[in-house]
Amino acid sequence: MSEPKKLFIKTYGCQMNVYDSERMAEAMGAEGYVTTEVAEEADMVLLNTCHIREKAAEKVYSDLGRLRPLKQAKPDLKIGVAGCVAQAEGEEILKRMPLVDLVVGPQSYHRLPEMAKAAEKGEKRVDTDFPEEDKFDHLPDRPKAAVRPTAFLTVQEGCDKFCAFCVVPYTRGAEVSRPAERILKEARGLVEKGVREITLLGQNVNAYHGAGPDGDWTLARLVRELARVDGLDRIRYTTSHPNDMADDLIAAHGEEPKLMPYLHLPVQSGSDRILKAMARKHTAEQYLRLIEKIRAARPDMMMSGDFIVGFPGETDADFDATMDLIRAVNYGMAYSFKYSARPGTPAAEKTPVAADVADARLQTLQALITQQQREAQQGMVGREVSVLFEKPGRLKGQMVGKSDYLHAVHVDTDLPVGAIAHVRIVSSAPNSLAGEVVAA
Ligand code: 5AD
Ligand code: SF4
Repeated sequence: MSEPKKLFIKTYGCQMNVYDSERMAEAMGAEGYVTTEVAEEADMVLLNTCHIREKAAEKVYSDLGRLRPLKQAKPDLKIGVAGCVAQAEGEEILKRMPLVDLVVGPQSYHRLPEMAKAAEKGEKRVDTDFPEEDKFDHLPDRPKAAVRPTAFLTVQEGCDKFCAFCVVPYTRGAEVSRPAERILKEARGLVEKGVREITLLGQNVNAYHGAGPDGDWTLARLVRELARVDGLDRIRYTTSHPNDMADDLIAAHGEEPKLMPYLHLPVQSGSDRILKAMARKHTAEQYLRLIEKIRAARPDMMMSGDFIVGFPGETDADFDATMDLIRAVNYGMAYSFKYSARPGTPAAEKTPVAADVADARLQTLQALITQQQREAQQGMVGREVSVLFEKPGRLKGQMVGKSDYLHAVHVDTDLPVGAIAHVRIVSSAPNSLAGEVVAA
């Protein structure tokens, strides 16, 4: 028997790309490919790319450049570009990087095996369709899904919001929700393989409205049904838009213990003027009131967010409003970015804020976020949380897992990967907590 072909995948960007990479690996697995962690031994290298900011997109080209010696040493090596850079740049990638054999967008990767076969025959292919057929209907079931206690599950893709800075509506396409039954089936399959925590993914996941057996289901309904799956212990979802944070979903946070008390709810800015220019369609005050409502349903909710500094037209006063909002919310975690002009988006036409000003604001904002994050972690010391162990720690006899609040927790224990324990937090390090098992 001949050796199986080897596939190396590098994933950039968001969690949806992580999920897509797994599905692509499974699709190629059905064609006899096994995955490898070592690019040098691969027969095919696939870069699953991100286009959200300029840096992410440029990284892809520099990584492709770095593959040149490998391709020279091994002319049969096939190189593919998948994901959002593939979608945004298509043919351009072949022109700029002739070593690339195939380019496949995020909505057509069920065609990857067929494209790989063409590549083996020396044919170059570009597929950036938004096909009529649903890729999920054409991907194999998930027999080879890796056995891990946590998994991502895409339930909704694309975005119709068109925030002025964002490429997602162009690269991922219009908002589409997967049918509820398919999601439940995929979830049950994952649970049978040992998964205990599922994170539902979507660019606007809380706008989920997939077809159910009795009409469209909301995300809250989907969560409540998933909560009935025996063996599934934790449910999370990301990313949400404030305007889609429906009352039934907020209520579910108060009523459904399997729904974890951590919510990623990006606001981007605390200035109404900038929010308007960003086309976010809500004010800072509305966001703050929404968080009050969420905390009324679930008082211990750990809030997370995304911020952009240096959006065109942002003044010192606008930035101060963002800082005020951050103080008012008190985040457990947040991601912040310097505005990056993306070709084709409305904001890209406007005059950017000076780079040194944007850099300084980013530093100031990140210092505040870091302080809030440390305080949130410090506040966990002495408390009991549940921890799902995900992997052995660096020290012998140690496991690392995530708390309900998504903090990484180190624990000395004999409990295996996949166990959930009650843990008392004893100390806080910069990026993790340490705890001891109270009860398994
Ligand atoms: N520049 C900087 N940050 C951006 N994001 C999206 N588009 C841009 C851009 N053009 C950030 C937003 C979003 C997160 C995923 O990435 O904060 O919520
Ligand atoms: Fe981008 Fe806005 Fe859609 Fe989020 S809601 S994916 S930031 S356009």
